[in-house]
This record gives sequence, structure tokens and C-alpha cells, in this order.
Amino acid sequence: MKQKVEDLDWKNLGFVYRDLPYRYEAKYKDGEWQEGKLIEDSTLALSEGAEILHYGQEIFEGLKAYRREDGKINLFRPDENAHRFALSAERLAMPPFPEDRFVEAVKQVVLANKEYVPPYDSGATLYLRPFMIGTSNVLGVQAANEYTFRIFAVPVGAYIKGLNPADYIVSEYDRAAYAGTGQAKTSGNYASSLLPSVEAHKNGFADCLYLDPREHKYVDEFGGANFYGITQEGQFVTPKSKSILISITKRSLLELAKKQGLNPVERQITLEEAFNMKEAGAMGTAAVISPVGSITYEGKKHVIYSETETGPVTTKLYNELVDIQYGKQEGPEGWVQTID
Ligand SMILES: Cc1ncc(COP(=O)(O)O)c(C=O)c1O
Repeated sequence: MKQKVEDLDWKNLGFVYRDLPYRYEAKYKDGEWQEGKLIEDSTLALSEGAEILHYGQEIFEGLKAYRREDGKINLFRPDENAHRFALSAERLAMPPFPEDRFVEAVKQVVLANKEYVPPYDSGATLYLRPFMIGTSNVLGVQAANEYTFRIFAVPVGAYIKGLNPADYIVSEYDRAAYAGTGQAKTSGNYASSLLPSVEAHKNGFADCLYLDPREHKYVDEFGGANFYGITQEGQFVTPKSKSILISITKRSLLELAKKQGLNPVERQITLEEAFNMKEAGAMGTAAVISPVGSITYEGKKHVIYSETETGPVTTKLYNELVDIQYGKQEGPEGWVQTID
């Protein structure tokens, strides 16, 4: 059933699927992307032999539309999502969707569902979920030759509410292999993170912190966000790894941290080092910036900064990022695209 806008409680949206009036769809066949269009049907018809159902050719993205104080709508670096989507496609042997058409389609979906972009100051946003699947029939392990690209939108509350420190546990599992698909945004990485996250939640943790899959020595990332730490010397450090998602939030914070004199660097971070950070956080589109209150490893809890309060560096980075996203502050050139 379609979601009625009048039934939405903007302050308590949660992070759940809702069926909005319009989505965008384009199909790939005969070696090229066909013209796409807005459609109303939220379902997909698939053959039982469709590639996605057996060998997992799926990639996706996640980005948000922010309601500004003047009522207009901001998109935050959608061109970066378009680019990462193309990289993910390449890794999964799928035909890249043209990056300019990706951004154009995102805008069409936002405008078509405009009244679902939550009000300024509600703390909520319109989350956009572009994805692509292999649809043609295969039996042996091989890539599809037909694909469907879609973008749907859902109004969401903050995935992790505000600047509240959360407790994490170091996972004994890996979510991605060293030279596997960790840098791509593909469903398989998330499928392998489900059991670890179920177990983490059962034990009272917000999520898992994964280690590098080769040595289990260095910090990789969280199940749905990248990791950063602020060293005792006040430096912003974030893992360099072949098996983590190239986060757009992370890349943005590296620039903001530079401007704030935090001398940011991407490098390997040992777990021991992470325990000794002055501050640490999770960063991503859904998480925004969420402070790490503690990291538990082999039964021992390591508190970072505080379990109840957020450190000053994290607070300053959070405020600057969010102000840019909502258009309260001007960001570096090209970061924000405003649509009416
Ligand atoms: C595993 C993982 N790492 C990192 C991120 C952060 O990426 P981005 O900042 O582009 O949203 C995400 C998605 O939010 C993610 O799912």
C-alpha cells in the first residue's frame, strides 16, 4: 500500500521501507541502457532463473536529500555516489550506469516525491536507494546480459540518533575478503555481516567492528560505516584498507579535518591503537557521525572518550558536516546540489 504523506510522523520515522508514489527504472538489454522513466509500481517481476537470485549480481547506493530552511532541497555529492556505483558495477562485471544519468534520475525521484522530503529541523531526510540487479536467466556461474536499474526513496529518521556514543564489539567474522568485494557496495558484503550483527545486537552492542581479513590486526570498518579516530596528538586517522567501502562521508571528513587543522591521514590502524584514541567515531550517510563510546574485544571493554558524552573534535566535525548538508554553511565547491 502506498504511504500517505499525512500519515507520517516526521519525528519518529525510523529507518524502515515505505512505498512512495514514484521510483525511477531503466533497463539494460541488447548491450545498452534503455531510456528510463518514473514508474509507480514498487514491485519487480523476475524469472526464477534470474542471475540475482543465484549468483548475486547486485549493487546499490545510499544518499540523502535534505530540506533546507528556505524550503529548497539539497543533495550531498550525488556525483560521488554515481561514480562509486560505476566502480561497484565494474567489480561485479555489470554494465556501469552513466554517471550523469544517475544524478539526473536521483533528482527526478526527489522531485516526484517532493512532499515526502521531511521538514527542516525534523532531524529526518529523504533517503535514496539506487540499485541494479542482473535479471536474465543463467544456470552456470556467469554474468547476466540484462539488468534493471532502479532508484526508490524513503523518508527516514536518523539511523543512529544524534551524537550518542554507542558500544561496539570486535567481530571474529570477516565481512569481505582482502582482495574481495569490500570496496564495492554489493549485497553479498552485507549478507555476510548479518549473522555477526545479529549476535552483536543480542549481546547489547550497536554493531560490529571488523578487522582486516588477512591478519586480523588492523581496524577495517563497521558493518555500515567507516571508522575514524582522533589520536592523543589530535590527528584525524582513518583506516586505509583494500576491503572497506570507499565512504563519501569519510572522504568529505578528510577534507573538513584538514581545514580544521587535524592533519588527517589514511593509514593502517592497529586495534591496540584504536583502543587508545582520544575520540573515535563511525561515519557514513546513514550514521552521519556517530561517536564510539566503547570497543569490546575478547571480553574486555575499552572506553573511548566517554560512554555518555561526545568529544569536542567529533562534535565540531559533526556540526560542520551537517550544516553543509542542510545548506546552513557553504561547503567546498560542488559538494551540494540544490533543487527546487
Ligand atoms: C560498510 C559501509 N561502510 C561505509 C559506509 C559509509 O559510506 P558513505 O559515507 O558513502 O555513506 C557505508 C554506507 O553508509 C557502509 O555500508
